[in-house]
Amino acid sequence: MNLLSSRWAKAAVFVLCLAPVLLLGWRLFIFWRHGLGYDPDLTADPVAYITHYTGDWTIRFLLITLSVTPFRKLFNLPKLARYRRMLGLFAFFYAFLHLMTWIWLDRFFDPHEMMKDVIKRRFITAGMTGFALMIPLAVTSTAGWVRRLGFERWQRIHRLIYLSALAGVTHYYWLVKSDVRLPLLYGGILAVLMAYRVKVWLRSVPKRRPVTTPSTAYLRD
Ligand code: HEM
Repeated sequence: MNLLSSRWAKAAVFVLCLAPVLLLGWRLFIFWRHGLGYDPDLTADPVAYITHYTGDWTIRFLLITLSVTPFRKLFNLPKLARYRRMLGLFAFFYAFLHLMTWIWLDRFFDPHEMMKDVIKRRFITAGMTGFALMIPLAVTSTAGWVRRLGFERWQRIHRLIYLSALAGVTHYYWLVKSDVRLPLLYGGILAVLMAYRVKVWLRSVPKRRPVTTPSTAYLRD
């Protein structure tokens, strides 16, 4: 599809990915200008609002990034591949904002408080794991790193995104107190995407095994 190869389409997707943070910035600006009472969502607890907002977009971007390959293959849209890196980096960007909200506005850069939280609250441990797993992916996302590592090794490292998403879903499931519908929905989507990967992998296994025809097999005994 030509549209997917155009520079404009990529620019449009970039702006779309940026829209959530621009919207958040705008709402914070209005909140700051007009003060309490103007924006009921923000007024109740601005820090919690920003934390939840950025957390939601992190998990969404992780799942969108993971959907690129299945969509590309199922609908025969090879050009979709050029969006994967950008989407993955946006997942990292929202995760970074999410983490910084916690470090800055929730724990006030207090290392002791942070360590206590990471050790004592299992949902924070899971969130940290999810974020830590995204770091090597963001660092090695450039074409230079694909060349340096070799495509196969690079691809193996980038499968960490599944573990990161799993840690993210677990983090979400553990932190909600009663209504687990949304974390379960995200978990379900992740399970489908993982099942698709496993199916593709299983199909490729016979191709990778060395061929042992009956005529050569006896030579090994
Ligand atoms: C892969 C990484 C991560 C993902 C996908 C993720 C996702 C989420 C999601 C979806 C929520 C709930 C949003 C809602 O209720 O609407 C959330 C909340 C939260 N996350 Fe994360 N998160 C990640 C990493 C982290 C990290 C590294 C931290 C801090 C160390 C963190 C701290 C929190 C906190 C404090 C909350 C709010 C908890 C509460 O309501 O009591 N998250 N996150």
